[in-house]
This record gives sequence, C-alpha cells and structure tokens, in this order.
Amino acid sequence: MAGKHLSRWTLVWFGSAMAMLLAGCALGLLGAADPQGWSQGSNLAVVHLFVLGWLCQVMLGALIQFVPVLAARPLAFPGLALPALVATSTGTLALALGFLALDGHQALQPLFLLAPVLIGLGFALVAVMVTATLWHRDSLHLAEVRMVLLALAALVGLWLSGGRMVLALAGLGPAPDLSAMLPLHLLLGIAGWLGLAACGVTYKLFAMFLLAPEQGGRLRGAIFWTAAGLVALLLAALLWLLAGGSAGRATALALALLPLLALLALLYLTEIAQLWKARRRPALEPNMLWSRAALAFLALAAALAIPGWLWGGTWAETAVFVALVGWLSTLTLAQLLKIVGFLTWIQVFAPRIGHQPVPMVQKLGSTRAASACLALWCAGTLAGALSLLGASPAGYRLAMALLSLGALGVGRELIAVRQLAHLPPAERPGQLPHLMLPLLHPRPRAETRS
Ligand code: HEM
Repeated sequence: MAGKHLSRWTLVWFGSAMAMLLAGCALGLLGAADPQGWSQGSNLAVVHLFVLGWLCQVMLGALIQFVPVLAARPLAFPGLALPALVATSTGTLALALGFLALDGHQALQPLFLLAPVLIGLGFALVAVMVTATLWHRDSLHLAEVRMVLLALAALVGLWLSGGRMVLALAGLGPAPDLSAMLPLHLLLGIAGWLGLAACGVTYKLFAMFLLAPEQGGRLRGAIFWTAAGLVALLLAALLWLLAGGSAGRATALALALLPLLALLALLYLTEIAQLWKARRRPALEPNMLWSRAALAFLALAAALAIPGWLWGGTWAETAVFVALVGWLSTLTLAQLLKIVGFLTWIQVFAPRIGHQPVPMVQKLGSTRAASACLALWCAGTLAGALSLLGASPAGYRLAMALLSLGALGVGRELIAVRQLAHLPPAERPGQLPHLMLPLLHPRPRAETRS
C-alpha cells in the first residue's frame, strides 16, 4: 500500500511545493503574470514557480514516496532525497529570480546561469533513485513502471531544452530559434514528463482508491507504445534542433504531434473509465470525486489542443493553462489531501494497531473543507480559461483570486490534517507529529489529552 514505507522527506517535498504554489498564486494575484505579455521576465518567473516549484517538485516528491509501491521493493539511495530537494528548490528560486534579468535587472544574470545547473542536479539525483528502484526484471514488464521511466526520458529533454534557452537568452553560445524550441519544451514538460508520470502513478493510485482490479492488457500496451513514439519523436526533434537542424522542420514535427497527443489522452481516459466501471468501492471520497474534474480538464485540454494546433495564439495558451492548472494541479491537490492524511495515519496510528483503538484514515480529513477548496480551484480554472479565450483582464484577475483562495484552503486543510485537528480530542495522541519532518522528533501538542 502507498506509504507503508514512509520516505523521510516526502512531506518536506510537498511542503516546499505548496509554498511555491502559494507564492505563484500570490504573484499572479498581484499582477506579476500578465496574460498580455507572456515573454516578459516577470511572467516567465511566475510560470516557472508554478511549473517547476509546484508541479515538478510535488511530482518528484510523490515519485520518491511511490516508486517503492510500483516496484514492490525499497527505495534505492534514499539518502539522495534531501540533496535533491535542496537542489530543485534553490534552482527553481534562482531561475525565477534569474528571469528578472530579462526585464533589465542585470545583477541577477549569474542566478539565471546557475539555475539550470542546480535544477539539473536535483533532477539527476531523483532520476538515479527512481531508475535504480524500478530497473528490475520483475517490474520492467509493468506498463506503469515503463511509463514512469519514459517520463524520466522526457525530463532529460525538458532540461536540455530549458537549459539551452537559458544560455540563448543570456547571450551565450549560438542562439537556436527559440520559437522552434519552445513548443518542444512545452510538449516535453507537460505531456512527456508531468503527463506520463501522472498516468503511471494514477494507474496504481486509482486502482487502489477505487478498489478496482488492476487493468493491463492491450489498451494499456497501446497507450505505452503511443507515448513511447511521442517521446522518441520529441527527443529526436530536440536533438536535431540542438545540432543546428532546420527550425522549420522541428516546429512542423512538434505541431504534427498534437493530434497524436489528443489521441493519447483519449486512450488514457478510456482506460480510466473502464477502471471506474470495474470499481468495488461504491461511495467515493473527495480525492476521487475531484479527480473526475481533473480528468474532465484533461479532456478539455486535449480538445483545445486541436484549435491550438490549427490557429495557435490564445487557443494554444488556453490548452496549456487547462492542462497545467486544470488537469495536473486539480489531480495533484485532490490526491495530496488523501495522501497526506494517509501518511499521517501510518506515522501516528499504525504503530498503535493491536494496542489501542485507532481512528479510520478518513476521519483525519474533512470532506466538506476538501470539497470547498477544490471547487474554488476548479472554478478558478474555468474562469482563467474563459478569460484567456476572451482576452479579459478582469476575468483573469477573478480567476487568480479564486485559484489563490482554493490553494490557501488546501494548505489550511493539509495543516489541519497534520495537526489531527478534525479528530475528537479523545482520539488524538498526546504528541502531534511534526508538520513536515515526519520521522524525526514528534512535537508536543499544546493542549492536553482529555
Ligand atoms: C515541467 C517543467 C516546465 C514547464 C511545464 C515549462 C513551461 C514553460 C512555459 C509555459 C514557457 C513559456 C512561458 C511564457 O511564454 O510565458 C517556458 C519558457 C521557458 N522555460 Fe520552461 N518549463 C519547464 C521547465 C523549465 C526548465 C527546467 C528550464 C531551465 C532549466 C526552463 C527554461 C525556460 C526558458 C529559458 C523559457 C523562455 C523561453 C522564451 O523566452 O522563449 N523551463 N517554459
């Protein structure tokens, strides 16, 4: 089961990611991310606080916790988790500050150049842990394991494209055509790395939370091979561009892959629908109820990718927004609430089983609070998508406000879960777990046990 073996730093990864999400939302609300000028340094800074600080960090932390479940063996090199966390979080902050050099703050240029080194180090350390855990003949035949390894291959391409664009923007080395590099960067980051890792993890998580029989079979095989073809073509186009190949051909290939991507999303959604039908758990908890909203956003992003492919512009921007904010973030926020509750239960109550009564895992969270903040988040996504399509600055500000409220609500609920605040006092232990350092020293609880 997920979390039976607690990884020591998982909650610190999640805490760091939540802090970056809140920072990104606050900056968006204060107007630092202006949809009328995406290529400004301040916009790029907010975008990367969100994609790298929030989505990538939460995904890397989740993989460190979750790959032992996928491979049914302990995590390899667990001591690398903390250095990887330090490298990715400092690298993300350096990149966000470094982007401001593009707005004329030249003193920040060294941070811009340092950022890809730190981010690459963090990515590499996690890749070593994950690959060494999954690379085993007993697990390599599993489609979900191969999907995560494929996501790591895309992560290499994402880093190469991002690092190369940093060098070009800093005026170092021959400048590749950024307008050709950017679509590859986006496809490798969103569909390749984050998307495929999310698919691999949800295969297992959804089956677990829905009590559904493990799928597999032809459809999953078809999804894997379509995804493998997509990543191989993206990497080939990137290497071609890096080697000085024609920018026009690389862009044409990236655009030609968009319908394939929409097909991949459709196949994945079909498989998840089958899993849903086969479930044995009749009443669903908020994490699964709101995952349905995330999957609906995936369908919407795939649908928007077609006009984005034909006409580009705001259609493409909206597709990217719906994929990052609607699909990947709603899914992550919903599952985070469940996983943090579960890890807290394992940490606090699992050792007491057989010695004293223990509460059910569900009692650690509040269904109403979780649903309220996820509803705000989804409303913010819809408002954001509509405001991008309608070029409405007022609508965009409203969206940022709703997203910020939703993210704050999730943060508050996660703290309540960690402090066991939803449990009646009689069921709480005398000591609370530490907010984020789960396996070090439990913090004494302020109130006494009644
Ligand atoms: C999953 C991870 C990532 C995603 C989803 C992502 C997404 C994006 C997006 C959406 C843009 C365009 C933003 C805009 O036009 O405002 C962009 C641009 C950029 N990204 Fe990333 N990014 C990721 C990781 C990285 C990394 C790791 C680096 C550096 C090591 C990087 C460096 C850059 C640079 C330099 C640009 C500017 C390109 C230009 O001005 O044309 N990105 N990225």
